[in-house]
Amino acid sequence: MKVAILPVLWLWLLEAEGRCFFNRTQEHCVCYSLSQESLSSIIRCLPASVVEFYGGELKTYVDFPIRNLNPSAIDMLGSLVIRKIIVGDLLVPEVLLAQVLRFFSYTQVQELVFENCIFDGRGNWDKMDGQNLPILSLHFHNVTSAPLTGREQDFSSLSSWLETLQELAVTGSHVTSLPCGIGRVFRALRYLNMAQNSLGDESLMPAFCKGAFPQLQVLSLQRNNLTSYHGVCRSIQLLHELQHLDLSQNQLIADLSASCQWPVSLQIFNLSNTGLDEVLTPLPPSLEVLDMSCNHLHAVDISLSSLKKLFLNQNMLQAAPSIRNCPMLDTLHLDNNSIRELPWDEVKLLGQLRDVAVANNPYNCSCSGAGGLQALVSMGHLGQGWPQDYTCHSPPHYQGRLVKDVQVSVLQCNSAAVIAPVCIALALFGVVGVICLLRSRPRLIRP
Ligand SMILES: *[C@@H]1O[C@H](CO)[C@@H](O)[C@H](O)[C@H]1NC(C)=O
Ligand SMILES: *[C@@H]1O[C@H](CO)[C@@H](O)[C@H](O)[C@H]1NC(C)=O
Ligand SMILES: *[C@@H]1O[C@H](CO)[C@@H](O)[C@H](O)[C@H]1NC(C)=O
Ligand SMILES: *[C@@H]1O[C@H](CO)[C@@H](O)[C@H](O)[C@H]1NC(C)=O
Ligand SMILES: *[C@@H]1O[C@H](CO)[C@@H](O)[C@H](O)[C@H]1NC(C)=O
Ligand SMILES: *[C@@H]1O[C@H](CO)[C@@H](O)[C@H](O)[C@H]1NC(C)=O
Repeated sequence: MKVAILPVLWLWLLEAEGRCFFNRTQEHCVCYSLSQESLSSIIRCLPASVVEFYGGELKTYVDFPIRNLNPSAIDMLGSLVIRKIIVGDLLVPEVLLAQVLRFFSYTQVQELVFENCIFDGRGNWDKMDGQNLPILSLHFHNVTSAPLTGREQDFSSLSSWLETLQELAVTGSHVTSLPCGIGRVFRALRYLNMAQNSLGDESLMPAFCKGAFPQLQVLSLQRNNLTSYHGVCRSIQLLHELQHLDLSQNQLIADLSASCQWPVSLQIFNLSNTGLDEVLTPLPPSLEVLDMSCNHLHAVDISLSSLKKLFLNQNMLQAAPSIRNCPMLDTLHLDNNSIRELPWDEVKLLGQLRDVAVANNPYNCSCSGAGGLQALVSMGHLGQGWPQDYTCHSPPHYQGRLVKDVQVSVLQCNSAAVIAPVCIALALFGVVGVICLLRSRPRLIRP
């Protein structure tokens, strides 16, 4: 039987009870701890492009002799359409992984994911020397393994492949450091996600040392143990291609012990939920997207000539920020702040944006709190949440009412905006009146 050709890859599936479920429309197959009896069900997975394997036991196959594949087996592997493999809830002996991984060079698998796995022991990676694999994306989530330090030899055996890898994610795995030498292997890496680990300020400098990750464009350090805004800035200064940096869910403070410039390539910066009570400087000069939501900001005054999207929801802003110095801005989110009203001149500026959201603020509906918003709505750019998430908090007789339902006395509230045109109109009527008068009663003037 052909499946027997893929020795270790499937072997562990034979052990426990389980089976595979194939969804033809999604080309997606999920297998739960397969057994020898239910082996026929794994054949169903062969036309799938995504295969997931959960549970089972690999340890018993560690001593299994693995020989090189014969040509028909290689043909067979090459004909599979599987592009992505997800392996979960499993103890993976590294010895075994080291032996099996090289067979992937005959497949078209581009994405490999391990989640909730324990990598056990240390394997010998010599056989991977010079091997190229089609895998471009590697994701580990909630995995444990032997420490990475002191494993330069292993990484150099894998380097032909790792040099071509484009995406690497190691998330939720208690990583505390990333040795300098590792980053230097990943020469083509575009995307690095280290979210939900324990990287501290002092571990960043070696991780992004000279020559490490030279092509990196996207870096997520979300939810780690970072505290120094300027320390992060100094650590990643050498990432000249970096476009997107996510520092959200760290508790950041200023540390002005030395100056620092962010890479000018940086376009997207996520500082959401970082405990900020003021906007720290410098900001990357060419930013297009800045997320500072979920902080304790009381006031924001930024000028970034290329900024397009600014997220300030869930802060303590008393007023909409000045956006005069952000000429390219098209999106501004101010939900969940302490804004009571939107003055008329701000409404005119906000009305020029494509996407504005100001929901869940404690509006004072006695005047421009309601009038400004209604004007903004009439300009047609208020995002989702209107009208149900826009309610009045004051004065008492409006409390709890929807801003939409408040009758705004335009004359009383927008005196500058309304009275000026009214005066002009009256003045014009006055002139017209006088002219009419003069025409109809010429005798009055010419005695
Ligand atoms: C396959 O997936 C589609 C889309 O999620 C779903 O509608 C369909 O019911 C699934 N088919 C089977 C057999 O589970
Ligand atoms: C992480 O993986 C371990 C097995 O290695 C598992 O016991 C644990 O429940 C997983 N944690 C989460 C949050 O999924
Ligand atoms: C986070 O960093 C602090 C010092 O910077 C350290 O004391 C603490 O143990 C670290 N926490 C984790 C989970 O690594
Ligand atoms: C910033 O990160 C948070 C998670 O911490 C995420 O919800 C949000 O969408 C991110 N913002 C942007 C602009 O990507
Ligand atoms: C505003 O706060 C509410 C309640 O805490 C929350 O459900 C909602 O997601 C928040 N919206 C935004 C855009 O922050
Ligand atoms: C609401 O606005 C009115 C008129 O602009 C003002 O007199 C009043 O003090 C404001 N109330 C609050 C709670 O801000």
